Amino acid sequence: MRLRGKSALITGSARGIGKAFAETYAREGATVAIADIDLSAAEKTAAAIGDKAYAVKLDVTDQASIDAAVKAVETRTGGLDVLVNNAAIFDLAPIVEITKASYDKLFTVNVAGTLFMLQAAARSMIGRGKGGRIINMASQAGRRGEPLVAVYCATKAAVISLTQSAGLDLIKHRINVNGIAPGVVDSDMWDQVDALFAKYENRPKGEKKRLVGENVPYGRMGRPEDLAGMAVFLASDEAEYIVAQTYNVDGGNWMS
Ligand SMILES: NC(=O)c1ccc[n+]([C@@H]2O[C@H](COP(=O)([O-])OP(=O)(O)OC[C@H]3O[C@@H](n4cnc5c(N)ncnc54)[C@H](O)[C@@H]3O)[C@@H](O)[C@H]2O)c1
Repeated sequence: MRLRGKSALITGSARGIGKAFAETYAREGATVAIADIDLSAAEKTAAAIGDKAYAVKLDVTDQASIDAAVKAVETRTGGLDVLVNNAAIFDLAPIVEITKASYDKLFTVNVAGTLFMLQAAARSMIGRGKGGRIINMASQAGRRGEPLVAVYCATKAAVISLTQSAGLDLIKHRINVNGIAPGVVDSDMWDQVDALFAKYENRPKGEKKRLVGENVPYGRMGRPEDLAGMAVFLASDEAEYIVAQTYNVDGGNWMS
């Protein structure tokens, strides 16, 4: 029960990694807002977790929606202790085929969504005066470019940079901002990644996923629950002196 009594909001937690975080946070004693653009999926996830979870409609690209979600958490629990900025989207294309529409969409969700969600949470935490924790989901994609993945990689590099700047700015309010950089994690997002690689690298469906899994030093792709320990740790009292860092949790993938 390392998060006993904490109030958390996890963006994009109706499914995948965010859902695994929400399940683990609830087990560790937190009350969790399952905040997602897909409200009916969020409601199902919250119901499956039980009375420690509740669904909140959230579009991280819409300031009114961000403000309403933070307000909903304040009203329900008395204040926000932990934000996990997890919602993101993926796309890929060779440099010569990248469209402005895809670029705008990825930067609006992955970068602006992370920044303005973080800002709203920080304002709420500062107003309450009890500090807080913010955890941003980066990626190994943010550590280096990839031939087909220019825009997504750039958004995740921006998330690592925002984590550093916000971490340095907000620690005076006792708000610790840190990040997690997963490697390859088996989720709905990776099914989309696999389909796009199949198209651009002329592969059968499923092959890219199998190959990336085999190449992880640990011996398989990550599972959403593999990341939950780091998400609990960064939200816990044990991480009080950790500021502006992004940690790889990737089965050794980045080292290889
Ligand atoms: N899956 C991987 O291999 C991998 C690797 C590295 C990093 N990540 C990062 O981890 C995080 C979670 O990834 P995942 O694989 O669970 O993704 P996912 O696609 O399975 O889930 C993303 C969730 O975000 C929600 N969402 C999308 N747009 C939104 C918006 N505008 N507002 C609110 N919610 C929105 C979706 O409805 C969905 O529930 C993302 O930040 C992703 O970039 C994933």
